[in-house]
Amino acid sequence: MTTDIYVTETFETIAQPASFPIAEVRAQFPALAESFVFFDNAAGAQVPQIVLDAVMNHLLHCNVQRGGCYPKSVEVDRVIATARAKVALLLNASEPDEVAFGMNATSFIRLVSLAIAQGLAPERNQIIVTDLDHDANVATWLALRGMGADVIFWRMRDDRRLHVEDLVPLLSERTRLVACTAVSHALGTLVDVPAVAAAAHAAGAELFVDCVHYTPHALIDVQAWGCDYLVCSGYKAFSPHMGFLWGRREKLRSLPTFREDFIPDEPPHKIEAGTFIFENVAGMAAAVDYIESLGAGLMGKGSNDPRARIVAAMTAIRDREQSLSREMLRVLNENGAIIYGEQAAEARVPTLCFNLPGVHPADVTNFMSDRGIGIRDGHMYAPRLMGRLGLAMDSGVVRASLVHYNTLDEIGRFEEALRAFQSAR
Ligand SMILES: Cc1ncc(COP(=O)(O)O)c(C=O)c1O
Repeated sequence: MTTDIYVTETFETIAQPASFPIAEVRAQFPALAESFVFFDNAAGAQVPQIVLDAVMNHLLHCNVQRGGCYPKSVEVDRVIATARAKVALLLNASEPDEVAFGMNATSFIRLVSLAIAQGLAPERNQIIVTDLDHDANVATWLALRGMGADVIFWRMRDDRRLHVEDLVPLLSERTRLVACTAVSHALGTLVDVPAVAAAAHAAGAELFVDCVHYTPHALIDVQAWGCDYLVCSGYKAFSPHMGFLWGRREKLRSLPTFREDFIPDEPPHKIEAGTFIFENVAGMAAAVDYIESLGAGLMGKGSNDPRARIVAAMTAIRDREQSLSREMLRVLNENGAIIYGEQAAEARVPTLCFNLPGVHPADVTNFMSDRGIGIRDGHMYAPRLMGRLGLAMDSGVVRASLVHYNTLDEIGRFEEALRAFQSAR
């Protein structure tokens, strides 16, 4: 199995599986029974049956408000508490109360950015963002410019990677926070989050990580990474639409957030204004169960430690996805595509943005769509990145984004369609 810097934990008991149980995995996702090839996972992944069951079970049996004394309401409180513990397990958070639930990632980034803006000291008012990130983690911070923040850019190099060596000279005693992604949702390129955290902390700054695109692909370990805040969207990670925010307890404690007077000024309550979607939170807990059960199957005997099961599953997923990346890179390279990201499978996830010379990206996606293949074209909500790539916002790129349940056969169908497109031109 491949080792890489993103797997920080090792468990003696983890058995090395002979092969990834792809048939068993796919059988758990009802939507994958259709012959449709789904390569648009970066926009939202499919959900396993266990998640559908959890959502339906919640709506059928405890579709009530939390905080009541009657059994159904008590059950809602239990479901939320379980989901917090499950997500904490997924992230390796030190306690469940560091996890807050809500609508989506963007609204959480806005919430944290507004809270940071409220406490900005003029002598430490600098925020560093990147030109690789999804705009949810750029525009939200740029909006603080009108509130006293000095927002500057950590730019990717011409190799289309963020290099921590380029961040270091930007950091100073004036830096309040660095906001960056763990992996590019467009190019698929990984960012060395522990190194970013170490550099930011050396300057006395905090690190906010957009983990939306990373979560389905590799192991998260907020303690080993050393970040201060991290945001995810459940719907990218085999759950229904919802989002969650993790923050170090003492950081969340000191954030000024909106809450009614009688709500305790403590995480997670101070972060969760109003009611969130309980059934989808139940679904998120089940998505972690799905990952855990994949890990348990891979480990066989010795799978008693739940975090070890998560590590086993995410290590195997990462390994499998590198094979998918390699094959996609081969197909695209052999068919004349301009690939905008990394060529090394070890340094990326199987999210690939490309163009065919002289072809409008929408022509490719429409052709694929007619052949039962779902991919996406456009700016990928990354205007700065499009600018750096010299691409127009109204055309952009083609993106094919795979996860562990995709197969080499599906890539074969994609290749066939790509060849057919090229020969029809
Ligand atoms: C990397 C990344 N960050 C942030 C977002 C925004 O997430 P949400 O739709 O949950 O607000 C997305 C959505 O595509 C994303 O891919």
